[in-house]
Amino acid sequence: MKEKIVWFCSNCGNEYPKWMGRCPACGEWNTLTEQKIGPSTGSGTGRGSGTGKGLGAGRGARGYVPGEGRAPRRLSEIDSTNEARVSLHNEEVDRILGGGIVEGSLVLIGGEPGIGKSTLSLQIPLGCPTLKTLYVTGEESERQVKMRADRLGGDASNCVIYSETLIENIISQASETDPDLMIVDSVQTMYTETVDSTPGSVSQIKEVAAILLRFAKETGIPVILIGHITKEGSIAGPKILEHIVDVVLQFEGDNKGAYRILRSIKNRFGSTSELAVFEMTGKGLRQVANPSELLVPMHEEGLSGAAVAVMLDGARPFLFEVQALVSSAVYGTAQRSATGFDTRRLNMLLAVLERRAGFKLAQKDVFLNMAGGLRISDPACDMAVVSAVLSSNFDFPVPSDYCFAGEIGLSGEIRPVAQADRRISEAARLGFKKIFLSSFTSFEAGTKGIEIVKVADVPALVRALFQGGGI
Ligand code: TYD
Ligand code: MG
Repeated sequence: MKEKIVWFCSNCGNEYPKWMGRCPACGEWNTLTEQKIGPSTGSGTGRGSGTGKGLGAGRGARGYVPGEGRAPRRLSEIDSTNEARVSLHNEEVDRILGGGIVEGSLVLIGGEPGIGKSTLSLQIPLGCPTLKTLYVTGEESERQVKMRADRLGGDASNCVIYSETLIENIISQASETDPDLMIVDSVQTMYTETVDSTPGSVSQIKEVAAILLRFAKETGIPVILIGHITKEGSIAGPKILEHIVDVVLQFEGDNKGAYRILRSIKNRFGSTSELAVFEMTGKGLRQVANPSELLVPMHEEGLSGAAVAVMLDGARPFLFEVQALVSSAVYGTAQRSATGFDTRRLNMLLAVLERRAGFKLAQKDVFLNMAGGLRISDPACDMAVVSAVLSSNFDFPVPSDYCFAGEIGLSGEIRPVAQADRRISEAARLGFKKIFLSSFTSFEAGTKGIEIVKVADVPALVRALFQGGGI
């Protein structure tokens, strides 16, 4: 086959035979980049190449030859007992993976540079010396990894460091070392000889991931792959990889703040709504087992503009503080800005307050912030957002032992949330005195120590909250 030129979209990874100003698939402008496809690779995109081969083959990489697959089998002949999972001896990571890493799976850990991906992936082997780990580093030298390992502490006796970027060498090294776990840091630095483009380009990333996936599936060795995402979250990398890998864990949070959130956004073997919180300390990432206690700050009574929301993350209820600042607009048009919350949703909630409850917020700047750098998409947080905004607007504090869980609709009605019982008992456990819920929420009676306040719509919420406050 002759060498050919194709155009890849660096946003969504689609491939086109010619250049276009706008990617028809994702609608982004100027994202198509030219790439030469070498004669040896077939399509060169690595799409699906060999991924179905040898699934469920026995564990072990010795003598592994890429591409030697198995014959197809009848579904009825395939062993369907639970996937074998390996514990990484890191409770939070095990939990978001769904109870340990599945043998033969490819797990992508994505996040912005400096967020802690390398730290976490080195902490894993140092924390479980029973697993023989091959840690491949394409970014740091062996010495740098060693220095970091010394800082992190732990047992380094069963961790093999390999500084290499050519994926073919890595695979042959892995089949010699035969590890229990392989970590590759990072996908952007790796390259394969079969694709004629620079490391980090779309076709290299896809091909490298496809080779690693094939390796994982055929040998049964779990592979953790690290990938950088830029602030926009879209440059060639993890976005393209999401389709290829089995599990995507994403690091979020402010890399200058102390807290980091690891969220599962795709998981072929478990739930995707799990989330873990870590604290970056001088000795690496520390697991925060009970994030609510940390995200509900203990400031004095009487601060306006803050309200506590009760969110659900997977099966775990989670409380955190929503902070709002409302001030008169200095310039003609009011500013609305939200950190960790969808600005369009904030605008919708403000419009509801204006139209359904008569609050004049059009001339006000509104700033919203979620504690701890969290990014929130649970609509149950609406009621806390509205309460924080009103509290700041009137400079009238919401008592710090109140919390909220309710979605707000366009007509100002407050809608029920799922799993109210779990939320109520978590709020009670943390010592909250009142929880505000929709009138239509169904829950089992009998949670002690917390009063349930039922509200049907926004005006009812305002009455219940600021009763006697002169608003
Ligand atoms: P790192 O894991 O290198 O980030 P990534 O691989 O995602 O780019 O994390 C780097 C940051 O973490 C860096 O700013 C230093 C900080 N850090 C600590 O605060 N404590 C530690 O023990 C370590 C190892 C790093
Ligand atoms: Mg790194």
